[in-house]
Order: sequence, then C-alpha cells, then structure tokens
Amino acid sequence: MSSHGEKPVPAHSAAPAPAAPAPAAAAASHPVLWTVCLLGISLVIAWWFARWYGIGAEEARRHGPLKLAAPAAASIDHKALVADRSPAVLDRGRALYKDKCASCHGPEGDTNPLAMNPPARNFKAEAMKNDLGQGPYAFYVVLDKGYGANMPHFRTVPPADRYAMVHFVRETFMRGNNPAFAEADDAKVVIPAAGVVATGAKTPVKPAAPPPVRPLMAAMAAEAEAQIARVETWLTKAAATPSPALTAVRRLANDKPAAGVRLLAAAEAKDQTALIAILADADLGSPETVLLPGGERDALAKALIAAAVR
Ligand code: HEC
Repeated sequence: MSSHGEKPVPAHSAAPAPAAPAPAAAAASHPVLWTVCLLGISLVIAWWFARWYGIGAEEARRHGPLKLAAPAAASIDHKALVADRSPAVLDRGRALYKDKCASCHGPEGDTNPLAMNPPARNFKAEAMKNDLGQGPYAFYVVLDKGYGANMPHFRTVPPADRYAMVHFVRETFMRGNNPAFAEADDAKVVIPAAGVVATGAKTPVKPAAPPPVRPLMAAMAAEAEAQIARVETWLTKAAATPSPALTAVRRLANDKPAAGVRLLAAAEAKDQTALIAILADADLGSPETVLLPGGERDALAKALIAAAVR
C-alpha cells in the first residue's frame, strides 16, 4: 500500500530509459563553454595581430623612417644639377627615361604611343609650351608640377634623378634635332640658388579652365552691392529738399533695387524723359510713382538729376 504523496511506480520503470537529447543540448549552451570558446577566439586574434605587428615592425626597422615627401625645396642645388651633364648622369637618365617616360613619349622621344590628346610632347620637333621656356630648370618644374591634363608630375622622384632624365631628353633627343633647342640654354629664367626656395617662379600654364562659377557670382553680387550703395548716396543727397514724391522714389529703390540703379543711370545721363518713363512704368515703377501727377513727376525728375550731378 502506497503512502500519501508517493507516486505510483510505473510498471515498466525497470526498462532502460531511451537516451534523451535534451540534457546534451543544455550542456552545449552552458555559459562556461561559451566563455571558453570566445576566449579561445580572442586569443587566436590577439596572436595573429601580434604576429603581423611583429613582422611589420621588423620590416620598418630594416627600412628606416619612411620618406614620403621629396627633399625640401631649399636643399636642392639647382645650379649644380643643371650644370652636371656628365656621361654618368646621362646614362642614369637613359635608364630612368625608359622606365618612366618612354611609355608616353616613345622610346626615341618623338612618338605618341598612347595616342594621347593633346599628344605627348615630341622632343625632337616641338617647342616646350610651359612659360619657363626650354631650359633644364623649366623641364624640372614640369616634372615637379605636371603639365596639362595628361603629363603627370614626378615629385616623388629624387631631384638628381629628375635632372638626369631632363638632361638625357635634352641632350639626346633635342640637341641637334629640335629647332627650339637653340634658345634652350639662354633661358631667361632665374634658377633659385642652393638653399633658396624658389619664389615667384611661374608654374607651367595649365589649359584654361572655365572660370569657377562661385567667384563669378560673388563678383556680380559685389558689383550689384556697390551700385545699390551709389543709389543710396544719390537719393540721400536728393532728400536735402524732401518731398512726398522723393519719399516714394526711395521706397521704390528699396523695394526694387534694379529700378533704383536704372533711375540713377538716367539721372546721371541727365535724361529726364527716361527718368519719367521709368517712374511711370507699371513694371519698373511703384504704384506711388506711377500715380504721381505729371507736374510733380517733372519736378521730381529735375531734383533727381540735380542730385546726380557730381
Ligand atoms: C602618362 C603619359 C606621360 C608620361 C608617363 C610622361 N609624359 Fe611628358 N607629357 C605627356 C603629355 C600628354 C604631354 C603634353 C601635355 C600637354 O601639352 O598638355 C607631355 C609633355 C611633356 C613635356 C613638355 C612640357 C611643356 O612645357 O610643353 C615635357 C618636358 C615632358 N612631358 C617630359 C616628360 C618626362 C621627362 C617624362 C618622364 C619622367 C614624362 N614626360 C612622362 C605625357 C606623359
């Protein structure tokens, strides 16, 4: 006999219970397990980071500090570099030209292999267009700034290497071939002395770009403001002899600045008819000036002309 609260034991309880998947799933989502997994992943990432950081640091030690910019302009001895056209320099220039320039200017400096437009300069035939002329320093500046839309700058190439290419191009392709070369060496250009930063040297002309809209509009706005100021001065002068008609004109100039400017122009031209026409015009004038009686309008026009006399 079973006591109260005791569950009756099922008859088949002796049979082995089928393996329940539920407890296993519960174990897999255990917080400790998750923590261990995430910690493991973090350690892998940290190791990976440290490894590559180490490789990077090692690489940096081997290379020394990065030189991102060309040496300061002040340290370039242009005069010495312009003068040095030794065979060693020309040989170096030849190799550099082949590497950096030939793709666009052709292996012999007289073709346009990429069919660029405007074409890459033909060193054997064409004059240089930059406004420093045909001399080595002008070439150097072209390599420093680029030219036009398609000639890139070579600012990251060390100055001595740039001059090597310049001399190679000028001595090999231009000398004896290019009629413009004759004047090349008497460039009227002041080459900055060593230790002096070039100032005031003009840069190669870029093809004219359309004027930017913003400054244009600003200039127009400034011009309009100046005109409106002149109208103000004029009407203030006219108000020395005040009249209701004049007050109407001042209100008009205030509401429609363009009408004020036109009135001033007519007054300065002493054109009474034009003045009255503006005042009486339904679009240009104001209801007040349009409705002015003829006599008052004439007197007003005279006063306005008198005030416009400088
Ligand atoms: C990507 C093509 C390209 C490369 C590379 C290139 N150039 Fe040019 N270069 C041009 C083009 C195009 C022009 C003509 C630009 C123009 O007239 O608007 C030009 C013009 C010039 C000019 C004439 C500037 C003037 O005053 O008229 C010189 C000098 C010059 N290049 C030298 C070189 C040298 C030296 C190299 C190699 C370091 C070189 N270029 C590499 C395309 C190139």
